Amino acid sequence: MLRKMFQNNVPIIGIETSCDETAVAVICGRSILSNEIYSQTKEHEKFGGVVPEVAARAHVTVLTDLFSIAIGKAGIRLRDACAIGVTSGPGLVGGLLVGTMFAKGIAIGSCKPVYPINHLEAHALTVRMFDDRAKFPYLLLLISGGHCQVIIVNGVGKYQMLGATLDDSLGECFDKVARLLGFSYPGGPKIEKAAVGGDPFAFDIPEPLKGSKDCLFSFSGLKTACASIIQRSSLDERQVKDFCASFQRVVADHLCRKILVAVQKSEKFAGLSENKISCCVIAGGVASNAYIRERINFALSSVRYELVVAPSEFCTDNAVMIAWAALERMEAGVAPADSFSVHPRWPIGF
Ligand code: KG4
Ligand code: ZN
Repeated sequence: MLRKMFQNNVPIIGIETSCDETAVAVICGRSILSNEIYSQTKEHEKFGGVVPEVAARAHVTVLTDLFSIAIGKAGIRLRDACAIGVTSGPGLVGGLLVGTMFAKGIAIGSCKPVYPINHLEAHALTVRMFDDRAKFPYLLLLISGGHCQVIIVNGVGKYQMLGATLDDSLGECFDKVARLLGFSYPGGPKIEKAAVGGDPFAFDIPEPLKGSKDCLFSFSGLKTACASIIQRSSLDERQVKDFCASFQRVVADHLCRKILVAVQKSEKFAGLSENKISCCVIAGGVASNAYIRERINFALSSVRYELVVAPSEFCTDNAVMIAWAALERMEAGVAPADSFSVHPRWPIGF
């Protein structure tokens, strides 16, 4: 029944409230009918990072209106939708509760099925909405505000973890370094902008875990190394540009080294199945960084892997990716949930 509805291209609603973006979207197959995002940046800027309680309250304040706007812009009524996808983890518990309670409410009121969605899985699958080259199995580097992981994506719900960060996420590292340089939250895009035209070799920042031959990442030592350089020298405008370029270069060196190890490992796994991997996807907020994309693309070309990335605006948090993950689950024959709770910690594939 659900499969038939998708074939007829019936709208799916997505709702995302796991961190500091309140988002509602409506998709119909691969068409985006609406994509509403309320970013709480202003609320959190003065604290230099996301405050969970402030985030939950902001979600409560805007979600109902945002939902009406998204439905209105999509030109549908709630009864026209075939399902609702909502992020149920991982993320901040307050925000997850706001989103899932809202979704359950409208689902009960309109007799619609609900798909609880793992936010990481949504990042992992989004690219498939935009690019047919992202066929299973593919290698995924997930670099977001909360995670840094490399995974083989074998299918919907079928994930093989190759490695993850030993400490901080990459987005957190970008945000912390940006803060030390005086940039407001979120700092990742500001570092990227400042790095344009900077000298990537001006500062000697040590690459993390340089001699290691595994798929593990580390960013806490990099944060400390950056803090010590920034605090002992007062950087002028030119030097800030050079520092940002040098920081991004070291981050990219680390990611490229590890992704090439992941390629080798995935080839061993792929040897066991008939489908060879030749495509790598990067996803999550940091994947919208053009310099990092370019460096990873170059590294992958040496092993004849193709890099496939969703458009930048769909690398950062949004609700289109949640609706798309719901559609992927429907297509894979996964049943909607009768009841579910939130999972602030929820590894992909569990
Ligand atoms: O995926 P995302 O929107 O939220 C999470 O699921 O965590 O990622 C947010 C993170 C933030 O740390 C932000 O600074 C970083 O992604 N980010 C970037 C860029 N755009 C967002 N980092 C580096 N360069 C960017 N252009
Ligand atoms: Zn995210």
